[in-house]
Amino acid sequence: MSGVATSKLAVAVTLSGATNQGLDVLPVGVGIIVIGSTPQRWLPIFAKFKPAVVWLSFGNTQQMKAWTEGIRETTSFSKVWIQVGSVSAALKAAQSCQPDALVMQGSDAGGHGHAKGASVVALVPEVADALKDHGLSHIPILAAGGIMDGRGVAAAITLGAEGAVLGTRFIGAEEADMDSDVRDEVFAASDGAESTVRSRVFDDIWGANPWPQLYDGRCLRGAFYDSQEKGMDMDSIRTQFYHDSRRSQTEEVSMRDIACIWAGAGVGLVRKLEPAADIVKKLPEEAD
Ligand SMILES: Cc1cc2nc3c(=O)[nH]c(=O)nc-3n(C[C@H](O)[C@H](O)[C@H](O)COP(=O)(O)O)c2cc1C
Repeated sequence: MSGVATSKLAVAVTLSGATNQGLDVLPVGVGIIVIGSTPQRWLPIFAKFKPAVVWLSFGNTQQMKAWTEGIRETTSFSKVWIQVGSVSAALKAAQSCQPDALVMQGSDAGGHGHAKGASVVALVPEVADALKDHGLSHIPILAAGGIMDGRGVAAAITLGAEGAVLGTRFIGAEEADMDSDVRDEVFAASDGAESTVRSRVFDDIWGANPWPQLYDGRCLRGAFYDSQEKGMDMDSIRTQFYHDSRRSQTEEVSMRDIACIWAGAGVGLVRKLEPAADIVKKLPEEAD
């Protein structure tokens, strides 16, 4: 998953040309999966390119603090957003790091997240109240998880968020660099309650799982999950994966059975390929 952070940075580099001379900030964000990287590796790159936002996720309070302090010392241009998935994690991050925004990720979200989670409907208002009680209500909340269009944005604002994060919806963006077979599985999926599932099997499948027990991830449901649910042990699931992958070279095999297709519970609302700008532009109109 650190590859995702790298590819976001690659976008920044492409847009900037050589460096970011002459601009206050580069108008892109960079995502960092904190458990997979170190500030020492990235801070010189941020100092050079000045991304508008550095988005930190999946790390403990000490790690988040070290990253936040490092970013503020080296590139004061960049805003620091921290994504967490519980009220207690939000308070710890707010108190220790004073981020420029807290991204509250609910359990409907696609990709990795807190294994024991609540939806944004419960999470966001409680975090808003907790921040207020602790004199931290100046830190804006962005809601993430299951928000697919303007209806979700309007709901997020009503719950106390100042903005919304959409991840799964952008799998349908033309700019998303994605295998067409994988994207077709996302377009074909409906009813995220049935077609997606949270599990650690999507990381266990590759060998020793580096993700702390706090986290699992939401993916399209496929053979890895179904086999584990039937009681198959991990070695046998990996063997089955190996054979299915080989079989896919000569036969039709569902991508859901041989790949982890990270997608959230709102997947049924990703229906077509469209420019990312169109998705973004429609959101405020729909929310109004
Ligand atoms: C394909 C995919 C990849 C993701 N990769 C990351 C990531 O690298 N870092 C991160 O913090 N969150 C990642 N997320 C989670 C998003 O940041 C966000 O919390 C989530 O997508 C919001 O929920 P939604 O998918 O229902 O819109 C990913 C989500 C998806 C769908």
